[in-house]
Amino acid sequence: MARILITSALPYINGIKHLGNLVGSMLPSDVYARFQRQRGHDVLFLCATDEHGTPAELAARSAGQTVRDYCAEQHDIQAKAGKAFGLSFDHFGRSSNAPNHQLTQHFAKVLEDNGLIEERVEKQVYSVDDQRFLPDRYVEGECPNCGYEKARGDQCDNCGRLLDPTDLKNPYSAISGSKNVELRETRHLYLLQAQLQDEIAEWVEAHPGWPQLTKSIAKKWLKEGLRDRSITRDLQWGIPVAYEGEKRAGFENKVFYVWFDAPIEYIGVTQEWALANDDVSDTEWKRWWRTDKGAEDIRYVQVMGKDNVAFHTVSFPATILGSREPWKTVDTLKSLNWLTWYGGKFSTSENRGIFMDQALELLPPDNWRWHLMANAPESDDASFTLEHFALVVNKDLADVLGNFVNRITRFCKARFGEEVPAAGEYGEDERGLIATLQKSVSAYTEYMEQMEFRKAFAELRGIWVAGNEYLQVAAPWTTIKTDEAKAAASVRCALNLIVLFAVLSRPVIPFTAEKMFAIFGLNDAEAGWPDDIAAALNRFKGGEAFIPPDVLFAKIEDEQIEEWRQKFGAED
Ligand code: 2FM
Ligand code: ZN
Repeated sequence: MARILITSALPYINGIKHLGNLVGSMLPSDVYARFQRQRGHDVLFLCATDEHGTPAELAARSAGQTVRDYCAEQHDIQAKAGKAFGLSFDHFGRSSNAPNHQLTQHFAKVLEDNGLIEERVEKQVYSVDDQRFLPDRYVEGECPNCGYEKARGDQCDNCGRLLDPTDLKNPYSAISGSKNVELRETRHLYLLQAQLQDEIAEWVEAHPGWPQLTKSIAKKWLKEGLRDRSITRDLQWGIPVAYEGEKRAGFENKVFYVWFDAPIEYIGVTQEWALANDDVSDTEWKRWWRTDKGAEDIRYVQVMGKDNVAFHTVSFPATILGSREPWKTVDTLKSLNWLTWYGGKFSTSENRGIFMDQALELLPPDNWRWHLMANAPESDDASFTLEHFALVVNKDLADVLGNFVNRITRFCKARFGEEVPAAGEYGEDERGLIATLQKSVSAYTEYMEQMEFRKAFAELRGIWVAGNEYLQVAAPWTTIKTDEAKAAASVRCALNLIVLFAVLSRPVIPFTAEKMFAIFGLNDAEAGWPDDIAAALNRFKGGEAFIPPDVLFAKIEDEQIEEWRQKFGAED
């Protein structure tokens, strides 16, 4: 049994996440965590809200709330939505909680002790009318790269270029709109990343197994050369620049930059998890993070969208490696491309796209989970359309999986009663099926291990199809007329297949799997992972009671698609 630590990129606190965010990190990491738990491994799966920085402050301001209240409320909303989607975090924490404060201040201190932090005076955009500096998203203006007029200080939404607030042309305050802005000197802490270039390059090289997307982004940044980066901001909300309880002189009104503290929250949330489980001894969380305290054998997996890769392959490692302390670093870093809404951006303000809470008002979580994972944006960006979604749900879930389960349970009830028939031996059809499934289950398992989700779920779909094809050929509704024992054997095999399908499908469609187990009064929590398909298809030998379920998946009708198109801003 291996110990596997899995973290999903931490969703920003500023509002409930859309389907693109969901499939970018939280959902694939959940599917993987569920898979590894079923394989019998000791899994710790963690996530948290990323609560600092200008996105949080600006969102709170427009909601007319204090940042503290806004974050508390939004954290609960996101936690509830995650739960409803079946995201099986062992803990869903908050980057604003105490453990992250202590850890972030600790890292800054040791980095400074190691000569990797220095104070520098720089010029930043200052709003005379607002009487404050305008870091990151507090300033907007014209993008120097593409000319877009509403580019934000940290990034242009139009061309994607990462920016510094001082790069913008015709800057104005995002708070008041005032153009009365100027450059003023301010003092900040810089992390001297350039000194760590060789060490980080070596560390990246030591992970040849990373997926292509991850490796290429990491190497691009290393090739451009690591630049020292400012890790503090002129803001109120955030982690104070203080060491051992003492605010740093000259930094009383400053906090650490959100991208400095956010990844440290991976460690913070592990402490939050330990505390939530009454472990106050400080030993349990260290067993997952400190290689001098039991974490040397941990396999650490991170999952994130491609825009986060540089922060996880360069910046966070700079913090960790530069500390010269024995922290665990990531082993496998799965990154995903974008899921777009009809080829464009999801946008709350422009009412484009479906957000997590809205999705669940339309359909149960498994419909979304299946479609998103089976079409995950892995090798390239992928476009979400309602038409494609309906096609996939109707075909894969309703026609293939749902129909199989309903058809065979109803047939058995009508002809053999509500228990698995005992008569009949498996023949050539069943042996052929077992041989086919043995191969596809092993391919499916391997793809899941590799986190190649599209390939994995194409394989799983193939497994469901093989079950349907078997049933078509075995045709117990025909053979029963001439050979009841043969028909009974096919029915028994097909009922066993339902449990096998439930076991294999559970990582991706856990709610449906639970219903499939319940048909036979089984507890899904006991689901393991099948190695021997012949044994799996002989689990029920005959005589086991069952209850035919209601239809597992309703088909999506054209009128529903039309209604949703209007409601969520679909474009042709
Ligand atoms: O892109 C995002 O949504 C960030 N909030 C991800 C942070 S991941 C980690 F470093 F905290
Ligand atoms: Zn631009």
